[in-house]
Amino acid sequence: MDKGDDVIQSKKIVVLGATGTIGKMALDVLKKLKNFKVVGISAHKNVKLLLKKKIEFPDAFTALTGDRVEGVDFCGEDAIEALMEKTLPDQVIVGIAGFAGLKYALTSAKYSKRLCLANKESIVAGGNFFLKNVRDSNCEIIPVDSEHNAIFQLIEVEKSPINSIFLTASGGAVRDVPVERLKDVTPEMVLKHPIWNMGARITVDSATMFNKGLEVMEAHFLFGFPSDKIIVVLHPQGKVHGMIKLNDGTVKMLASKADMRLPIAYAIHYPKRIKAFEGFMPFGEFTFEMPDLSRYPALRLAYECLKEGDGARIVYNAADEIAVEAFLKKEIHFTHIYKIVERVLKNGWPKILDDYESIEAVDVAARRLAKEMVRRCC
Ligand SMILES: NC(=O)c1ccc[n+]([C@@H]2O[C@H](COP(=O)([O-])OP(=O)(O)OC[C@H]3O[C@@H](n4cnc5c(N)ncnc54)[C@H](OP(=O)(O)O)[C@@H]3O)[C@@H](O)[C@H]2O)c1
Repeated sequence: MDKGDDVIQSKKIVVLGATGTIGKMALDVLKKLKNFKVVGISAHKNVKLLLKKKIEFPDAFTALTGDRVEGVDFCGEDAIEALMEKTLPDQVIVGIAGFAGLKYALTSAKYSKRLCLANKESIVAGGNFFLKNVRDSNCEIIPVDSEHNAIFQLIEVEKSPINSIFLTASGGAVRDVPVERLKDVTPEMVLKHPIWNMGARITVDSATMFNKGLEVMEAHFLFGFPSDKIIVVLHPQGKVHGMIKLNDGTVKMLASKADMRLPIAYAIHYPKRIKAFEGFMPFGEFTFEMPDLSRYPALRLAYECLKEGDGARIVYNAADEIAVEAFLKKEIHFTHIYKIVERVLKNGWPKILDDYESIEAVDVAARRLAKEMVRRCC
């Protein structure tokens, strides 16, 4: 297998999850850049939008991980592998949502030199197994998740030892609803994120802070900091995305507009920085405070899961995905999301998992249990 040639001028790039929020923004970035050629795009079910994007990017082969559809180049579970084999991209933007991102990120790493990784679930569920596989494939990861992209940018130019890292959180759409009334908030209320325009699951996860919990785990594996050195701070303005604290107490922070096109453009150009978009925002108000864990118990649970080992992290993600789906269908209350995940975790899960099949088996088992809990809540 050849990973392509370093001297080519125009870099070949594949966008996985091209029909999602990240995927669409990535294509929006790539449309403006002459030095990248989009050679592949994927979706799961949204054929209509995939084929519409193909008209905008005529050099791109199309892949659909769902059922076979006329007019799409590669379909089914093996569609991403076939797409990679055909295109041998220099870079892959992984904008797939959920656990499925793990399998497809691993496939991408075999054929490409760089993963611009938005899918946090692959790191959370795959942990050391995922990172080792990507490394062994001679592929690098540049994080796209805004907080991790910010920490990555801060760390890579820092010459002094770093004491700890800070991830900022907006607090989500219902951050001002009194805790005792959270039970009654509706999907419509939760989906109105105050700052970011994102997919449905991540928007709900912002309101519960399951998203921040996943990000704490993601930061642990990406940057190698122990959990007590990864601190979450509430920053409702969404201007600062990440901070590092140095040994003398100095804090350095990265601030820009809340626009995912900035970390996407940074990840694909790294180590260069280009001005594709204006990232500067007026300073105005910056506030930081520690989150109230009675409002965001999912955050505490994430730190516990990190200590529990591989199984617990997979369950944290899988059970949350099922519970969020049920909340969006109005089958359970908002506060049931946390309760379901906590109960599924109590089942007891393996501490070390070092192959894909075992990881997937835990994911499947956790989903089954979570669905059972949803039925009991209904
Ligand atoms: N949105 C953000 O601002 C943001 C920021 C940081 C990190 N992230 C992370 O980026 C990832 C994507 O988030 P998003 O908000 O862009 O999600 P999204 O809008 O829901 O889009 C998800 C994309 O993944 C595809 N997909 C869904 N299930 C799949 C499966 N089983 N197999 C293959 N492809 C599948 C979807 O295809 P169809 O459209 O065909 O269903 C769609 O293209 C998540 O891991 C999220 O945590 C997002």
